Amino acid sequence: MNAGTSDYRDSGLVFPEGFTFGSATASYQVEGAAQEDGRTPSIWDTFSKTPGKVWNGDTGDVATDHYHRLESDLDLMKDLGLGAYRFSIAWPRIQPQPSTGSGAGSAVNQAGIDFYSRLVDGLLERGIRPVATLYHWDLPQYLEDAGGWPMRATADAFERYAEVMGSALGDRVHTWTTLNEPWCSAYLGYGQGGHAPGRGEPAAALAAVHHLNLAHGRAVQALRATSTGDPDYSVTLNFHVLRGRGDGAAEAMRRIDGLANRAFTGPMLRGEYPVDLLEDTASVTDWSFVEDGDLATIAQPIDVLGVNYYSTATVRMWDGVSPRQQNDGHKASGDGTAWPGSDKAVEFVQQPGPYTAMGWNIAPEGLEELLLSLKAQFPDQPLMVTENGAAFDDVVADNGSVPDPERLDYLRRHFTAAHRAMEQGVDLRGYFVWSLLDNFEWGYGYAKRFGIVRVDFDSLERTVKDSGKWYALLAKTGVLPE
Ligand code: FCB
Repeated sequence: MNAGTSDYRDSGLVFPEGFTFGSATASYQVEGAAQEDGRTPSIWDTFSKTPGKVWNGDTGDVATDHYHRLESDLDLMKDLGLGAYRFSIAWPRIQPQPSTGSGAGSAVNQAGIDFYSRLVDGLLERGIRPVATLYHWDLPQYLEDAGGWPMRATADAFERYAEVMGSALGDRVHTWTTLNEPWCSAYLGYGQGGHAPGRGEPAAALAAVHHLNLAHGRAVQALRATSTGDPDYSVTLNFHVLRGRGDGAAEAMRRIDGLANRAFTGPMLRGEYPVDLLEDTASVTDWSFVEDGDLATIAQPIDVLGVNYYSTATVRMWDGVSPRQQNDGHKASGDGTAWPGSDKAVEFVQQPGPYTAMGWNIAPEGLEELLLSLKAQFPDQPLMVTENGAAFDDVVADNGSVPDPERLDYLRRHFTAAHRAMEQGVDLRGYFVWSLLDNFEWGYGYAKRFGIVRVDFDSLERTVKDSGKWYALLAKTGVLPE
């Protein structure tokens, strides 16, 4: 029963009626079929095929083969009792070629639309709500060739893509999410270089921040204009929950909070960039890419804010002399900086364990704290945990089952944390476990397993892990199981 202990290992907690229990994936991580039905390369195809960028040379060419296993994966979701499925749409399946005519959008690839239409219908037939993300990092390569997210034209292109998707699926999608974790797209993609397209240009990273923000606002407008159903609108951010050390801890935390969190919540939820962020980055850029009217466009009302949370980060001011540590989230390669303007000011400190297989510390109290802090900052903004989960090195038992007690424990502790935040008044609408399936974990390829369902990457066979069975019980009863 509810132990109420400080280690967050409760059971018996009851989630409110209507709370959404979901699970999440992303197109490049699960679909495979990279060259089929008209899809052209994204920046992740190019990046993963560049030697040294992804562990073991892994690519998303086959991934979990979800594209071909759609029906059985949908059945699996139903068996797990999921109330919602968060997936992303591969932009290069929808608009595989650059636009040719002036003003006209790229030609739309009907086969790409058809796949997602089948996915949405298959979910609805099974009573599962479709939560669709437009951008989970697979930018069409032709847009990167034209300059990528540092260019304003990429936000223009995103608006046209959003119109296409709103028209195609806006009668059936339950929740639209514009972007997944623009922090990663901008800073890991263009500053630190450990994510596609692998550039190490601090000024370009900040231009990417702005054009991603702009793309979000433009996409909400376009989706609203074209969706004929009554969908919710959202964006998903990966918040950095910070701890500080040493003299100047508050300053170190302020700087990283500005770059990681407020660079997005500022324009999206308050219609302004934080003044201290502009000051901290003044030596890198003058932000002249922000044009009149942009901030009003970005600050579209959203129905729900997506929150991705895995662990905390500890920072302190760097003395300028001792060997410096940089924690850049999930990078496997890349040696630029994810912290333009603060890379020589702040260092990241190894945090106390225990850790997951990613080396990320396990800190459920950070989730409770984050949800409470968002409520304090944005009191009227409903929230949804759009990703939380853990990688561990699973072992298949002799009987074929996959006992994964550490992942189960991780999930129990984080659901407990979310429940405690709700008891303190946080308007949390749902929770999506990352991930439904073991999949292509970006720079780590297939070496890191996040799934509540195991995928054998040779046979592509699926096996529900113990954590998946536990989650199914939670999803079906709304009560945190023993
Ligand atoms: C998040 C990503 C997701 C997955 C998890 C582990 O940052 O959105 O695709 O890689 O981390």
